[in-house]
Amino acid sequence: MSVRIFKAPGRINIIGEHTDYNDGFVLPFAVDRYVWAEIEESDEFEVISEEFNEKKVFKLPEKSGTWADYIMGVVWAFEREGYRVKPMRIRIHSNLPIGAGLSSSAALEVAVTYGISRVMDFNIDGMEIVKIARSSEVEFVGVRCGIMDQFTAVFAKKDHAIFLDTMDLSYEYIPLNLKGYEIHLIDSKVKHELASSEYNKRRQECEEVLKVLKKNSFREMCEEDLAKLEGVLFKRAKHVLDENDRVRESVEALKRGDMVKLGELLVRSHESLRDLYEVSCEETDFIVDFLVNKDGILGARMVGGGFGGGVIVLSKEGTFPEYEEALKAAYKRRFGKDLEVLEVRSSDGVMEVEGN
Ligand code: GLA
Repeated sequence: MSVRIFKAPGRINIIGEHTDYNDGFVLPFAVDRYVWAEIEESDEFEVISEEFNEKKVFKLPEKSGTWADYIMGVVWAFEREGYRVKPMRIRIHSNLPIGAGLSSSAALEVAVTYGISRVMDFNIDGMEIVKIARSSEVEFVGVRCGIMDQFTAVFAKKDHAIFLDTMDLSYEYIPLNLKGYEIHLIDSKVKHELASSEYNKRRQECEEVLKVLKKNSFREMCEEDLAKLEGVLFKRAKHVLDENDRVRESVEALKRGDMVKLGELLVRSHESLRDLYEVSCEETDFIVDFLVNKDGILGARMVGGGFGGGVIVLSKEGTFPEYEEALKAAYKRRFGKDLEVLEVRSSDGVMEVEGN
């Protein structure tokens, strides 16, 4: 077998944060930054990362506690579903920054899942790819993530965002017509240690909300139910309910090209993630505070799980660069770190790269 190459994109979620494990709505699009998986036959399972300059040979179901687990987890998930995966060499490289809120882990899992399914001629559909990729992260690596990231890496369509209902997985492609506007992603270059433990804690708190209210789903809840909650549980539930409304409003705003409204919703979302869901941090708050209310900047908010990572900025075309240097300097003065601005465009989902 000659080498076959597959690539899967990262994603930016426009809005709908911490809703995907609460039967809620999300509005992500894939970005033109990828993880590539080059696959060829071998005598044993070998995974090689160009970035980490590392090669690992593995035996299932051993875990290594490293990046290679995301790949081993995929093989493990296939085998559990009854698929036999032949030994192969999988070489990984990427231009997706790790920890910037662009979900490099889902891109890795999806590139490998799709690649193996094609190389082995498993006849499985996109939804099955999403499930296997996600099982790797949830059950093998042990991060209880929702479904948004893997779903986007598989189903994304260039120039569109995906309005996904994570309750029944129905979705609609919403044209991402940015004429006259731009989206930037600012990588804060911080990822606080507590990110994954706090993520799992938020999930538990949301489960607790349902238990207290004796509901099966957040979608059965209304404003009156909120009055029966207090403290932390009230705050978490209020965020989820409001955020779902904001996603629906954002879809309407995008459809009518009302970027001013979309920008306002981004800012409301950030405030809620900061004050109610409490997953923001000083660094991303600083970036958002610096930018909002500046001429031409329509909105900004943290993206992804939180506790560092990235900030999405919506602005009128050409205005953001005016503030970029001042923002970088202020951030450096305050935190002693260099942030990075990434220009991103939308992308299609996972694919085989032809001609190699
Ligand atoms: C991480 C998870 C997603 C989602 C976001 C928060 O990126 O992988 O499933 O829960 O956090 O919206």
